[in-house]
Amino acid sequence: MTDDLLTYENAQDYITSLVPPREAELMEMEAYAEEHGFPIIGPACGYYCYQLARMIKATSIFELGSGYGYSTAWFAKAVKENGGGVVHHTVWDEELSQQARSHLVKLGSADIVKFHVSEALEALRQTEGTFDIIFNDIDKEAYPASLSIIKEKLRSGGLLIIDNMLWHGRIFDKTDLSPATLGVHEFTKQTTQDNDWIVSLAPMRNGMIVAYKK
Ligand SMILES: C[S@@+](CC[C@H](N)C(=O)[O-])C[C@H]1O[C@@H](n2cnc3c(N)ncnc32)[C@H](O)[C@@H]1O
Repeated sequence: MTDDLLTYENAQDYITSLVPPREAELMEMEAYAEEHGFPIIGPACGYYCYQLARMIKATSIFELGSGYGYSTAWFAKAVKENGGGVVHHTVWDEELSQQARSHLVKLGSADIVKFHVSEALEALRQTEGTFDIIFNDIDKEAYPASLSIIKEKLRSGGLLIIDNMLWHGRIFDKTDLSPATLGVHEFTKQTTQDNDWIVSLAPMRNGMIVAYKK
């Protein structure tokens, strides 16, 4: 029975094996995440974000919760190849922001990245204009309250990308009533039940929702 071979792990390994070779700096960032247990989106989701940004020719991207810049690096690569623009990096930790800056300098993308050391939603509120893509990777308990400002700051025809929507399988545990798990459930409901969005969940790594704003 080949169905036995279609496991979550086999699928993840296979999907990751399809990601083309990438810059040594990106691979060093992946190795750092592995070594320090830092939750980056990883190569398959990174490449997916890059693909989505290329597909809609995004030139303005706002990231909420950017860590040391791994996801930023994928978005910045797309924006550069789209002809230039801006990617906003937000994290509330100065040291992570500095780390991100150093990686993006090495990748030759720092010139198009704007670094905010701030609470991410506050930075979004205070930044003028609307965006082609908003990427949400902040603490999960804060997901539900983030949607109204995201909706306001995303252009029509733009993409909201949200990480961790399978939440390490915790969404299947009915006894898990932690604020983070409830935040993931609530945010999923808010986007999938709102007719202004066209939504799908890609079961890649920890699950990524892509929501197209009509
Ligand atoms: C999951 S990690 C980001 C990983 C990054 N997106 C990547 O894939 O490379 C989330 C980061 O954002 C920070 N963070 C979480 N909630 C935040 C918020 N509301 N405002 C600013 N930073 C936040 C966390 O401390 C952490 O450094």
